[in-house]
Amino acid sequence: MNILGIETSCDETGAAVVKDGRSVLSNTVATSVSDHVAYGGVIPEIASRKQLEFIHSVVQQALREAKTSLDDIDAFAVTRHPGLLGSLLVGLSFTNALSFALQKPLIDVDHIQAHLYANCLKKPESSRQPMPELPAIGLIVSGGHTSLYKIKTWTSFKLLGQTRDDAAGEAFDKVARILELGYPGGPVIDRLAQQGETKTLKFTAAKLEDSFDFSFSGTKTAVLYHTQRHPNDLDKHKIAYAFQKSVVDILVQKSIQACASQKIRTLLIGGGVAANSSLRAELAKACQTYKIKLLIPPMSYCMDNAAMIAGLAYHALHSNPRQRTRSC
Ligand code: KG4
Ligand code: ZN
Repeated sequence: MNILGIETSCDETGAAVVKDGRSVLSNTVATSVSDHVAYGGVIPEIASRKQLEFIHSVVQQALREAKTSLDDIDAFAVTRHPGLLGSLLVGLSFTNALSFALQKPLIDVDHIQAHLYANCLKKPESSRQPMPELPAIGLIVSGGHTSLYKIKTWTSFKLLGQTRDDAAGEAFDKVARILELGYPGGPVIDRLAQQGETKTLKFTAAKLEDSFDFSFSGTKTAVLYHTQRHPNDLDKHKIAYAFQKSVVDILVQKSIQACASQKIRTLLIGGGVAANSSLRAELAKACQTYKIKLLIPPMSYCMDNAAMIAGLAYHALHSNPRQRTRSC
């Protein structure tokens, strides 16, 4: 079964064709990120206008790369939420129209859960790659969300905890703005931190004991106060390292605690911040120590993409036959 997925929740416009929920036949992404750089963050109105411009050609390219036409597509999938309203509407309207015109099923997908499903995607040629064992703990770290889930099945997720203020990626972006490093902040802070190791500068993220919730806004404010106190003496490498370490430490600590509390030995990561080199390394170390199997998607599936939407939709379609005739 071929599903054409469409993803337009933030500043990306993605389309992908995925076969039988796992084999990625194509995964096309256009981004308007360069249009937001001057503002230090995504401007919703610009994002949705760009998505209107991009969506038709992105879908055509996804079909072409998959060597398929609309005749070969069995169902359509789209990100329903969460996301920027105008951006979501572009994808929803486009996919609704396709589904209505071609009289094929439309499945709406939760963007966050799809980020975790990115761990199940594979290239068509790697046929033997097994599905991750469930139940698993899922850590989602993106620009808009930071949450821990228990994944019971691919259609049943239980929220264990989430950020009470900024998402991890949002904190990276805001700290980058404080340090005048541009947008998006994650990749550049990641790069600077690699040459900034220090023991003298420390920021600490709120622990929120006895909870799987997170809070990053205090860390961001601590960075701001530090830069205000030392305006002529700013070592951006060290600040990037210390800030990143505080975020990574708490993410690792709570993920391992969630596995222990639920007696689960599989941990899946997803979202843009899962591209962070220190988070990947520290999670790998901790999971080795506690004998937890860690799965992190390849970089291209960490960022917003439509393959994860099409892949997860396959399971929704099979678990709930009513989805077959549903349209958003
Ligand atoms: O999942 P995503 O592509 O979009 C959302 O759904 O939010 O995540 C984007 C976020 C941005 O905040 C960006 O700064 C962050 O992911 N990010 C990173 C890295 N690469 C992207 N954060 C830390 N380290 C990175 N290497
Ligand atoms: Zn995302």
